[in-house]
Amino acid sequence: MGNLSGKWAFVTGSSRGIGQQIAIALAEEGCNIIVHGRKKEHTKATQELLKPFSVDLMIVEGDLATEEGVKNVIRQVQSNEGKVDILYNNAAIQSPSKLIWDFTIEDFSSVLAVNFYSIVLLCQAFAPAMKENGYGRIINISSGIKDQPDLSPYGVSKAAVDKFTQDFAFELRNTGVLVNALDPGWLKTDLGGPNAWDEVETVKPGAITLALFENDGPTGQWLSAQEIRKEEKL
Ligand SMILES: NC(=O)c1ccc[n+]([C@@H]2O[C@H](COP(=O)([O-])OP(=O)(O)OC[C@H]3O[C@@H](n4cnc5c(N)ncnc54)[C@H](OP(=O)(O)O)[C@@H]3O)[C@@H](O)[C@H]2O)c1
Repeated sequence: MGNLSGKWAFVTGSSRGIGQQIAIALAEEGCNIIVHGRKKEHTKATQELLKPFSVDLMIVEGDLATEEGVKNVIRQVQSNEGKVDILYNNAAIQSPSKLIWDFTIEDFSSVLAVNFYSIVLLCQAFAPAMKENGYGRIINISSGIKDQPDLSPYGVSKAAVDKFTQDFAFELRNTGVLVNALDPGWLKTDLGGPNAWDEVETVKPGAITLALFENDGPTGQWLSAQEIRKEEKL
């Protein structure tokens, strides 16, 4: 029996890439997983990878780019009696690469919608029940991106995630609900590209560390998965 046995984690964007690895890391601890992709069929590979673990799965689908889309995903999850002990806000998109002078408001708003506004709505939907239960882990995937004006909408969206993480953590202090941001590192995924520094699996030690914090553990923090991995010499 793992340390998260019987708990439920909702991992947005767990159909591939980093979210898929987070789902595996949680399942290794016995955690039941709500797998999400834009379409259910996108989640098939993750479902296969989770088969060896004796955990329950729920599959939800939907685009997080609009408020209605996010609410539709929330409704599907809440049909699971609303049980979400761990909310892993992972899904995100990259910006088009442009000179900073050329970005339009639409470039910013489309990235902010998926990468930031959806997180606000998801946190607001699931945190109250966590607070009532006296237990919850909200982990927002951030980024170490800096000095890349050509990807400014993406960088701005992650800065917003970091600030919201701090604000939400402060609101939930001393409730048993921890809210932290995790920088996965630059990883070889569809988003990170083939030249990234590390393999996608390297996110797992950091990803699980934040989920396993005790109730009096860190909150409102920005933590690096690659630093955690190096500290644990994995
Ligand atoms: N890779 C890196 O080097 C790196 C570095 C720093 C931070 N990050 C962050 O890590 C997280 C995961 O990135 P990744 O590299 O794993 O990305 P990825 O391989 O491109 O996977 C993105 C995931 O998000 C989902 N998704 C994309 N757009 C969506 C939308 N509009 N609505 C709902 N779901 C959507 C995808 O679902 P479908 O399969 O259905 O499309 C997929 O599961 C992101 O927050 C990213 O910003 C990544």
